[in-house]
Parts: sequence; C-alpha cells; structure tokens
Amino acid sequence: MASERDVRAGLQRAGQEHLLRFCAELAPGERAGLLAELAQLEPEALREHCQRAAAACARAPGPPPFPAARLRPLPPERVGSASRADPEARRLWEEEGFRQIALNKVAVLLLAGGQGTRLGVTYPKGMYRVGLPSQKTLYQLQAERIRRVEQLAYERHGSPCTVPWYIMTSEFTLGPTTEFFKEHNFFHLDPANVVMFEQRLLPAVGFDGRAILERKDKVAMAPDGNGGLYRALADHQVLEDMARRGVEFVHVYCVDNILVKLADPAFIGFCVLQGADCGAKVVEKAYPEEPVGVVCQVDGLPQVVEYSELSPETATLRAPGGKLLYSAGNICNHFFTCSFLQTICREFEPLLTPHVAVKKVPYVDEEGNLVKPLKPNGIKMEKFVFDVIPFAKSFVAFEVLREEEFAPLKNSDCAARDSPSTTRQALLAQHYRWALRAGACFLDAHGARLPELPCLPETQDPPAICEISPLVSYSGEGLEVYLHKREFQSPLVLDTDRARALLLQGS
Ligand code: UD1
Repeated sequence: MASERDVRAGLQRAGQEHLLRFCAELAPGERAGLLAELAQLEPEALREHCQRAAAACARAPGPPPFPAARLRPLPPERVGSASRADPEARRLWEEEGFRQIALNKVAVLLLAGGQGTRLGVTYPKGMYRVGLPSQKTLYQLQAERIRRVEQLAYERHGSPCTVPWYIMTSEFTLGPTTEFFKEHNFFHLDPANVVMFEQRLLPAVGFDGRAILERKDKVAMAPDGNGGLYRALADHQVLEDMARRGVEFVHVYCVDNILVKLADPAFIGFCVLQGADCGAKVVEKAYPEEPVGVVCQVDGLPQVVEYSELSPETATLRAPGGKLLYSAGNICNHFFTCSFLQTICREFEPLLTPHVAVKKVPYVDEEGNLVKPLKPNGIKMEKFVFDVIPFAKSFVAFEVLREEEFAPLKNSDCAARDSPSTTRQALLAQHYRWALRAGACFLDAHGARLPELPCLPETQDPPAICEISPLVSYSGEGLEVYLHKREFQSPLVLDTDRARALLLQGS
C-alpha cells in the first residue's frame, strides 16, 4: 500500500500537494483509496501534464491552430471511392479484403473508452438501444456483423476464420462492458477472441495549473482521448497478442455509428492493394458546421483537422464546383497495418501533441463543499486517434456513401441530429432499401401495397419497418432467396429464424 509520506513527497515534486488537503479528515478506506489513486501518478509526468495544460489554456483563445494557409484538400490520387469506382475495381477490393479475413489477418478494434457525455447516459454507449424492433444494442449489432463477415469469408474461401475483436475501454466503461458481454454470452462469439483492455486516465487541471479534486477523496480524472489507444496498446501488449494470432491489419472504429461495417472487406482490400499503412474512411460533409473532422493535408502531410479546431471561415470555403473545399468528413474508421502501429507505439507516440478541451469539471472548494460549476473551470488534455496519420508512409482515404455507412449516435433525442431517432431511422431506411432491391413488396394493415418512396433517413421512418439481422445480411447481400417477389406486412424483422422459415416456405 502507498504510504502517505511517499505520496506527499511525490506530489510536492509535482507541485500538487493540495490534492492531500482533506486527507487527515478522511475515513481509513477513503484515505487508502485516494493514496492508491495518487500513487499511480508519476510525479514528473504529473508536473509536466499540469504545466502543459495551464500553458495551453493561457494561449487560448489564440489564432486557430490550423490557419487556412496551411491546409489543402487531399490530392485525388490518395482517395478511393466505394461509390464512384467501377464495379470491377470494387469487386477486386472486396475479394482481397475477404482473402485477408479468411487468412485470419484482420482484426477489428473498438474505441469505447469515451464517457458519452453528450448522449447523457451513465452506462457505455455500446449498451444503448436506439429503439429497433429487435431491441438490439449497438454492441450486439457489431458482434453480429463480425460473425457474418467471418461467415462470408468462410463461404468464399472454405476455411473457418476469426476476426478478433479488441475493445479499448476506460475505467468508466470496462466494468459495465465486461459484465454486459458476459450477461449476453459474448453474443455467441468465442470470449477468447474478444479482448478488452483499458486506456489511461489523466487528471483534469484548473486554469491555475492545479489538478482538480472532484471529491475530498478523489481526483477528477478523464480518459486521455481516443489517441490514448497507442499507450494502451503498449501498456497491455495488445500488438503482441495480435502478432500471436497472425493479425496484420486492424480496422479501428468508434462505438456510436450504427451503420459501421466491421472489417469492411472493400475498405481493407482497397488499403491493402494500395500498399497503404494507414487509411481513413470519409463521407462527404453534409454542411459546413457538421461536427466531423476533415481529412486533408496540413503543411503537405495528410492529417485530420478536428471540427473543434477548424475555423468557421475555412469550414465554409467552397471549391469551384460549389462543393465544400474541405468536404472529406472523417467517420472515425481507420485502417492500420500492425507494423505501422508498432512504429507508432515504439517511436512516435510521445510526439503526439495533446489537444486541449475546456470543460465544466465538478470540484470541492477550499471548505470541502461540492461545487457544480456553471462556467468551464477545467482543462482536459486528450490525444486523438488520427494524429498518427502524418507519420504514415502511405496514407489513403476511402470515400463511402453516408446513407450506407454513417449514422452516429452522439446526442439525446432533444437534438435534431445524430440522436437515437435519427440513427434508428438511418438503419431502418437502409434495410428497407435492401429489401426493396431484393424484390420484397410491403403492404399496409389493409393489405394495400405501400409506395416505394425514397425515404429521408434523417427525418422520418421509411414507409414500412423492416429490420434485417446482420446475421442474415452484412451489407444487403443474399436477401433475394428470402424476399424476392414476396409480400410482407410492416414490421418485418428478418432474423435467422424468420429467414429459415421463409426458405422452407419457398422450397
Ligand atoms: C469523432 C472524431 C471526429 C469524427 C467523428 C465521427 C476523434 C478525435 N474525433 O468525433 O473526427 O468526425 O468522431 O463521428 O476521433 N473515445 C475513447 N476514449 C476517449 C475518448 C473517446 O475510446 O478518451 C472513443 C469514444 O468512445 C468513441 C470515439 O472515441 O467511440 C469517438 O469519440 P467521440 O468523443 O464520440 O468523438 P467525436 O467528437 O464525435
């Protein structure tokens, strides 16, 4: 157990002794908890972190970190397009992706250490149900897409294969996520192929450079950003685990996109065939203020400029055709080779510059009262997952269609965009399109044919409710055998049982 004397000496060196100011009045258990937490903070690193945070904050508001003069759109030769490529190119990418999956060379890695503050739930976002007829959570949809993509690779190549699922959590999400997976029997994945690991936390710092106490016995800590991935990979020897399994390519993605295509064969295949060590999926930005990073070049190197760091003037610039000049919206889907990740963890991680977020951080005042500030009072420092892109030897972007691949859950239903309703509608609209394409026909309650209206995913449910289990179809493939020239009443939930029953009816 950490002794108070040692902890105090370390804090003195870091200039943070105030963190022990209530120590004497704490109950023994509380005191032990606080000392254990503080003992984990390395004094030099703590001092540097607090100084850096205060200095970064003192500079703000300064000039935008990325003035327009430093930016250029990505050169077209670095961008592939899933929608505009000719079908033969697309087929080749998919074939290559499936080949790599069948060879057990592909893993997926979920960034799930965030606190989901905007959505306003107290549990991890992946456990959220957006109100689908099946009541599936985001985690379940993702698990089922992994199972389906493994199945498709098996059908093509004849050998059973595994796409291991790495999940980066934080102190806030590890416990509930682990419990949830256990409760749901790992969604029928082999638990040995679901690897959870934890990212580090960093103290929130006041404008005076002092770390904040959120309770008398607890420092205000926050995850170190999704770029904390690289430290976490090293902390938990995750790359070694990947090497043992023979994994060479990793698809990293964020938890909240209901349409995410895990281990997307076209994306993997495109990146592999291009010889890329690093890639990012993009969609065309919907409007200048959309809260997505833009993939572009900064000082001649590929980079993502986060929405919070792009000036409104730059965000609204237009190219000659009228399209936004910086229109390649980052959807937080990244491709990395394992050798690139090794280089990052070994050499470049310390060079990643943390980003500063000024937030309202609850704290205890000098008298020990809990205060919920009305104005921002604290600084959180975060690294971003995409900040490694400039270190890539060969970076590519892969443009995909928003309605097929991007509907993030960021906000509660109070917001007009990126809410449970809009994500649910996007998924149901997609499945309705797939069903129509496969030849299904939908009827209303009176048996009348429903119109095949083009649906507007962000604003309304499609004319008929149709939900297709990822175990039945990964991206719309193979549905004709169940749906062609058949009539269905809304809602249709095409899960594996229903699919089997339809096959039997048809034979
Ligand atoms: C993120 C992207 C943004 C992109 C948008 C698309 C980053 C830094 N920003 O923005 O460029 O346009 O998604 O939806 O990637 N997370 C952790 N640990 C943390 C913080 C976050 O694992 O310490 C995870 C979250 O759980 C989530 C993902 O990272 O899965 C993205 O985090 P979030 O805060 O939602 O990022 P956005 O601001 O929406």
